[in-house]
Amino acid sequence: MIPFSPPTLTEDDINAVVEVLRSGWITSGPVGRRFEEQLAQWAGTSGAVALSSATAALELALRAAGAGPGDEVVVPAYTYTASASVIDHVGARIVMVDSEPGSPFPSVERIAAAVTDRTRAVITVDLAGIPFDSRPLATLLAGRGRIDTGLGAALGRPVIISDSAHSLGASLEGTPAGSLADLTAFSFHAVKNLTTAEGGALTWRADLPTDREELARWVRTYSLHGQTKDALAKSRGASWEYDVIAPAYKCNLPDTLAALGLSQLGRYEQTLQRRRELLAHYAQGLADTGVQLLEHGGDGVASSGHLAIATLPVPGVTERNRVIQDLYAAGVSANVHYKPLPLLTAYRDLGFDIADFPHAYAFYTRELTLPLHLALSDADVDRVCAALAGSLRHISHNSAGSAASAA
Ligand SMILES: Cc1ncc(COP(=O)(O)O)c(C=O)c1O
Repeated sequence: MIPFSPPTLTEDDINAVVEVLRSGWITSGPVGRRFEEQLAQWAGTSGAVALSSATAALELALRAAGAGPGDEVVVPAYTYTASASVIDHVGARIVMVDSEPGSPFPSVERIAAAVTDRTRAVITVDLAGIPFDSRPLATLLAGRGRIDTGLGAALGRPVIISDSAHSLGASLEGTPAGSLADLTAFSFHAVKNLTTAEGGALTWRADLPTDREELARWVRTYSLHGQTKDALAKSRGASWEYDVIAPAYKCNLPDTLAALGLSQLGRYEQTLQRRRELLAHYAQGLADTGVQLLEHGGDGVASSGHLAIATLPVPGVTERNRVIQDLYAAGVSANVHYKPLPLLTAYRDLGFDIADFPHAYAFYTRELTLPLHLALSDADVDRVCAALAGSLRHISHNSAGSAASAA
């Protein structure tokens, strides 16, 4: 079976974790700080705080933006639930935008059109590892939204938060993911390009107009119960005394997991290169099949090559799901990214209706995500392409047959 997205773990990764386990300090501490320093370099910025997930990072980003009850936050409909659920967590109203025709992404104009005088923040998504260019969005949003206090007031527009769960190492004209939006959330979940099993990080633009050291301190404190001293600081000397300044969260990343990330960062350039090679190989292998791969390059775009998102030449969901079954029978595990949020019970219950998001729905109906990971050989990619081509031939033959018998 060709799996969809297993983690790549080396002996060095395992040894790095074992070293922490033997060190006497297993929760957040010096290894996490080294991981954060290197992440900040990858993101082209001055700092990062490692957290337990991208979801935690997104929620803290919204809190840092001051989003709460009475505010609105704009988010694409074509994304994973975590991009939007965090808006609900902070008590703000989710404002969803459709994609552009034939694309999973909304345009900056469409996002800007959804901004009202209650908009505190906008969340953009680097789907598949393709960095979303939020710089023109920043220009369009100048002077708009709810910008009475805090970061929005300093920026003179709603805060732009990037859900960069997929895009560590991506860049636009040399500007890395992490330096494009005001605040950026990365994920290190088990299926991501770089994994700590579960994990994430929050970063901020190097020139964000705020006290960035204070922001880092705030994020760190809020990730640890709002406690003024972390466990490491408390363990030193007779330094037990602490305060709790807010009834906050517990979403720090322990050193045991940070060690895994730090070890993988050491070879991350090669990881990116191989993922991009595999995508190029898919593009070649699928050239004559009518399958369209989502474009990962061009125009100064360097994607992180996280997901091989394809649009199939089939009428809709039934045939797309048939392809997934055929691939499975041929030993290939495929997936769908994503069911647009209004199709999910939670968002339907919040009043969203998929009929209002026709482009996101249309993209979903023919979407298929192919395996993409470092255990994949070029021959495996050829096998996936052949199985996909075979399934498509079978489906078009059957539908031609049923059209003929209906005539
Ligand atoms: C687009 C997107 N955003 C956010 C997340 C949440 O990441 P995490 O599991 O680290 O919270 C994911 C996870 O798959 C994702 O795909």
